[in-house]
Amino acid sequence: MDERPILMGPGPAQLPWRVVRAMMQPGESHLDPAFNEGVLDRTLLRLREIFRTRNEIFTVPGSGRVALEASVTSVVEPGDPVLCVVAGVFGGWIREMAERVGGAVTPFEVGLGQPLDLERLEKTVRERRFKVLTMVHNETSTGATYPVEAVGRIARDHNLLFLVDTVSSISGIDVQSDAWGIDMNMTAPEKAFGAPIGLALVSVSPRAWEAMEARKRPATSFSYDLLRWKQMWLPKERGGGADGGRRTPIVVPIHLVYALRETVDMVEEEGLERRLTRHRRAGRAFRAAIKAIGLSTLPPEDLASDTVSCLRLPEGISAKAVAAHVRAHHNIVIGTGMGPLVDRTLRVGHMGITASAQYVLPTVIALESALAANGHRFTRGEGLRAAQEVFEEGK
Ligand SMILES: Cc1ncc(COP(=O)(O)O)c(C=O)c1O
Repeated sequence: MDERPILMGPGPAQLPWRVVRAMMQPGESHLDPAFNEGVLDRTLLRLREIFRTRNEIFTVPGSGRVALEASVTSVVEPGDPVLCVVAGVFGGWIREMAERVGGAVTPFEVGLGQPLDLERLEKTVRERRFKVLTMVHNETSTGATYPVEAVGRIARDHNLLFLVDTVSSISGIDVQSDAWGIDMNMTAPEKAFGAPIGLALVSVSPRAWEAMEARKRPATSFSYDLLRWKQMWLPKERGGGADGGRRTPIVVPIHLVYALRETVDMVEEEGLERRLTRHRRAGRAFRAAIKAIGLSTLPPEDLASDTVSCLRLPEGISAKAVAAHVRAHHNIVIGTGMGPLVDRTLRVGHMGITASAQYVLPTVIALESALAANGHRFTRGEGLRAAQEVFEEGK
């Protein structure tokens, strides 16, 4: 047996070998234009197709939460009214980040795995003045995908800066940054992209730059202030302040940028539309399996995510025990729940290369075996058959 487990958790996702190989090199100076312009900038420009944006995209060392923190820190000033949609753990993180920089935060709570009430949201922003509206597209803690387009319309109608976390959706679930009015698309490449952990990605709209430029005081973070990134990294002809030598305010991990470039190659070779269809199929296949073995996802079908499934466990079955069985007997890593759902739900990722029969079917087999060992009663093999049927339909 391969001693390394297969990663089918909610992230990071399994790395394709060619992405691993892209990092196997001595590296170069981060100041060398061959890297800066030839590799880093070109990769960021190519990412615009995937973000579906004309805005500048930055990569900041860190991970997904750094994308959130850099964005919030850069635009929110002490006292700014911020409305944070909180539909799970990650929405809560953005809320806490906004509070820590002194924002006057109002949480807009959504029940775990429940739909977002657009009328109530619209009423909230009509009744009170906010500067910023934040939300998570794909709430990885509950496996629910929220309607960014509809919320974006509300944000635009009320002239709010719209900050969206797409960490577990980008390149696996459709994200249309410009058409949906996203001012800051905050994400990371280690989930559906299938790149290693270590980079944050953020796109910034002209409105978001205006908000940063209009600040009374500079952002409190030296390294994550995106305005500094604009000034130091963006060339003059793209609105920045870099004259000649370009540098990023933090040295960007060169090997991770090579890995990211390889994943962008992979997305382009496959074609974004085909990639999104592949994720939709994998999500449907996994959900078909869950249903066939008598379980259900936490969110209703129309909210269920195509990259991360969060399934509810029957009374008396522990998520930790099921995940431990899957790991011990099948060498597959799946996730338990998060927050209040920690032992009541399981989270399984089907993203990047794992959004395929090659990875989903063995995971269903492992899950069936672990559930049976933990006392769940169902007809063995039915989950596998249901998932297989979806893959065989080929749609
Ligand atoms: C929706 C969402 N936002 C933010 C994060 C934080 O990303 P990271 O763990 O890379 O810091 C995650 C990670 O799982 C996530 O799923």
